Amino acid sequence: MKKFRLLLAVFIAFSIALSGCNNKSQTSSGKQKEEKKLEIFSWWTGAGEEDGLLALLELFKEKYPDIEVENAAVAGGAGTNAKAVLATRMQGNNPPSTFQVHGGQELNASWVAAGKMEPLNDLYEQEGWMDKFPKDLIDMVSVDGNIYSVPVNIHRSNVLWYNKKIFEENNLQVPATFDEFFDVAEKLKAKGITPLALGDKEPWTATHIFENVLLAKLGPDGYNALWSGELSFDDPKVKESVEIFGKMLSYVNEDHSSRNWQDASQLVAKGEAAMNIMGDWAKGYFVNDMKLKVNEDFGYVPTPETDGYFMVVTDTFGLPKGVKNADDVKKFLSVLGSVEGQDVFNPLKGSIPARIDADLSKYDQYGKDTMEDFKNSKLAPSLAHGSAAPEGVLTRVNQAVNIFVTQKDVNQFIDALKTAAQEL
Ligand code: GAL
Repeated sequence: MKKFRLLLAVFIAFSIALSGCNNKSQTSSGKQKEEKKLEIFSWWTGAGEEDGLLALLELFKEKYPDIEVENAAVAGGAGTNAKAVLATRMQGNNPPSTFQVHGGQELNASWVAAGKMEPLNDLYEQEGWMDKFPKDLIDMVSVDGNIYSVPVNIHRSNVLWYNKKIFEENNLQVPATFDEFFDVAEKLKAKGITPLALGDKEPWTATHIFENVLLAKLGPDGYNALWSGELSFDDPKVKESVEIFGKMLSYVNEDHSSRNWQDASQLVAKGEAAMNIMGDWAKGYFVNDMKLKVNEDFGYVPTPETDGYFMVVTDTFGLPKGVKNADDVKKFLSVLGSVEGQDVFNPLKGSIPARIDADLSKYDQYGKDTMEDFKNSKLAPSLAHGSAAPEGVLTRVNQAVNIFVTQKDVNQFIDALKTAAQEL
């Protein structure tokens, strides 16, 4: 009996040890799985935004079926919410495996300056990318010779979209100058048609219009000089831009502050407004979501007085320091930076490929025209989309614009811009 009890005790102890062992191995493999998961962080959710990303993730899955991917997108145009979530995570040393970040100051003055990013020069060498991306673009994602991210696209910010039917039916010419714009806007208004659609529930959309007026009036050199601190916001051309911007705002839909960029684009798509100033992610929205046809239902021209200029918005992805699965992140970046990756993403997103050797046949007329324009235009980095100035400046400008939209006080706005510029 005693012997039996002893045997039983040994058996129970052994079983407990074994089950403990099992638990442990389950936990560690679960944890390993967690750590291995490739978390792709962006703000591409919903209409006009996510199709390109989903196609890219699908391509990655075909190539690397064993790598688990989590699409960790946070909704909100231009990163309105995602950037705040990202900042908290980066500060808490809990970065996503890779994240969407605009080339230029948003990458360099924030995450590179804080020492939070790994250089990717080895990946560029390995993939033979140095002469496959335009030098200007590589410069935008580099600091002191180190390259910190991979551009997936180039969006154009200075595009005026218009409803073809409205222009044809009313026998109107699409405006190329501000005088023409106001002339057309008056005529449309007289007929009860909203001339310009705006959705500034997220204030960046109004900043987006304003930056294009600045580009028109200052030219790329003057515009760039504003953000390098060489040109003061006291410049008379800034005042002229503010006045034009203010006048444009008198032609927008009344409910602008309750709409986002998609809702505003929808007004143009449905023939409830004639024009819209938005980056070419709006083309993705018109075609994929609203089922419209390029050059049949809607047309596009550079925003007034910016022909020959190209306001650049580039979405890039990098490798944060300290992530456990750096090799898998590099695999993702290599797909994102490949011709195949760029050519599944961009035709859906509305952007042009960042690479110079993409397959033209995959792009519609808008894409082809934009690739041509990119090669032949003077480039300027977008402020509203992170490239021109550090995040702190952009936040202040967005606040100032938001106040200007309601109060229309030119001098107060210029003072607020000057205060913002002190952080340059
Ligand atoms: C931009 C971004 C684009 C597009 C847009 C609207 O900042 O670069 O890819 O997503 O915001 O959300």
